[in-house]
Amino acid sequence: MEQQFNVLVSDDISEKGIELLEQEPGIHVDVKTKLTREELYAIIANYDGLVTRSMTTVDQELLDHTSGRLRVVGRAGVGLDNVDVEAASKKGIVVLNTPTGNTLAATEHTMAMLLAACRMIPKAHNTLVGGKWDRKSFMGFELYKRKLGVIGLGRIGSQVARRARGFEMDVYAYDPYILKDKAEALGVKLLGSLDELLRTVDVITLHTPRTPETLGMIGKRELELLPDGAIVVNVARGGLINEKDLHDALKSGKLRAAAVDVFDKEPATDNILLGLDNVIVTPHLGANTDASQINVAVMVAQQVINVLKDRDYEGA
Ligand code: NAD
Ligand code: MLT
Repeated sequence: MEQQFNVLVSDDISEKGIELLEQEPGIHVDVKTKLTREELYAIIANYDGLVTRSMTTVDQELLDHTSGRLRVVGRAGVGLDNVDVEAASKKGIVVLNTPTGNTLAATEHTMAMLLAACRMIPKAHNTLVGGKWDRKSFMGFELYKRKLGVIGLGRIGSQVARRARGFEMDVYAYDPYILKDKAEALGVKLLGSLDELLRTVDVITLHTPRTPETLGMIGKRELELLPDGAIVVNVARGGLINEKDLHDALKSGKLRAAAVDVFDKEPATDNILLGLDNVIVTPHLGANTDASQINVAVMVAQQVINVLKDRDYEGA
């Protein structure tokens, strides 16, 4: 008789991924989102596989409740900062993600946020919807021939750079882990230090993972290195920029604007940045397109099946 595996889907993912799991013989799927931590602790020992996105934190405490049955954790996304990969590995649990599944969604959201910040679109929209025809207050910032600094020239950073070149921006990057040739092939000038990049560009956009090295990489000192009136975009991870320092630089007028999709603490409904006039925010929507959500759900489902069925898989 075929072995039976139970998989828990604990965050919202596309139906296409759930269907793939359900169609696989020997796999039983439970979709239980918005569980409290206690509810999750109470049931996790019944599962061989766990599929998450951003809302389920897979930490030591959760792993301590697995009773040795859990074999695989799959995250339908790129960042693994909500999974304690080391603790999971110590228990022999395979951790998977979908590094390529939402690259274009995050890239396009970055461009949307940048353009919306440059032209103050949310504020102009609210003004007109509020019954005021005001053209004078909304003088935009043109990207043509402006200098963009990409911090982290990986998958998303590279795609952002290509699109920025399409706007005829001069694109610079800081990424200590890539070769100069890669940047050159993209028409990007790779600079040797973050400080040099900050002194050079008009706009920065962050595309690094959240690691001990990148946490707080942009604070008061770094923001001061930017020219007056610079723009900051973060569609990567909360915590890369010190939010209080960003708030102060926006409030003082040092920065013209910021566009922020990700926050130190999410959900971020009472975040310090929300009260400012020159910041635009979205609730971690970088990966939210139909195409990307199908991609990541199908990719993660297939990988989880592969692990449970002892087939080849790509670990995180
Ligand atoms: P990637 O791994 O392809 O690229 C990351 C790049 O950052 C790499 O080239 C790496 O060398 C570079 N890097 C690492 N440490 C650095 C440092 N200290 N300074 C400068 N560069 C450094 O990852 P990706 O797919 O491009 O994703 C980038 C980020 O975007 C991740 O944090 C990911 O979680 C986030 N993301 C967010 C959303 C969203 O919904 N907002 C969606 C997708 C991805
Ligand atoms: C990611 O890291 O891929 C994103 O944050 C995914 C998400 O939307 O949760």
